[in-house]
Amino acid sequence: MPHILELIRDDHDLIRNLFDELESNPETRDVRCITLRRELPGHMYAEEATLYAYLRDRVPEEIRRSLEEHSQVREALARFERIPLRGDAWMPALVSLRGDIEAHFATEEGDVFVLAERHLDTGVLFELSEIFQGEKQKAAKLVVV
Ligand SMILES: [Fe+2]
Ligand SMILES: [Fe+2]
Repeated sequence: MPHILELIRDDHDLIRNLFDELESNPETRDVRCITLRRELPGHMYAEEATLYAYLRDRVPEEIRRSLEEHSQVREALARFERIPLRGDAWMPALVSLRGDIEAHFATEEGDVFVLAERHLDTGVLFELSEIFQGEKQKAAKLVVV
């Protein structure tokens, strides 16, 4: 299994592809929104249970900032989900949600990944990937669609 930072980056790429599809293909909106609802909260929960938990004591300020971004993304997702799928407000809301999420991914792939590589040894990064996958699966089971 790859180490946790690779798994996180793969999830980010999957979510970026979902947004590309949501922006370009109105036919698959319904199903892609369900996928987003399943993937994104599970991804954030699994990060909090693994990488953030391990880094929190070492770099509290950076992790506090990332947790705050998670709260903002969760709120943005909740707002987005209240917008009718076929209404005029939907596409601007999607673009805005994507902006919030991409900004958070940039924080992680930049600052947080550098800190993880500096403060956690490679063995830990590999061990955490299994826990990360397990937490994601647990979270996915809790999602009601
Ligand atoms: Fe995150
Ligand atoms: Fe992430």
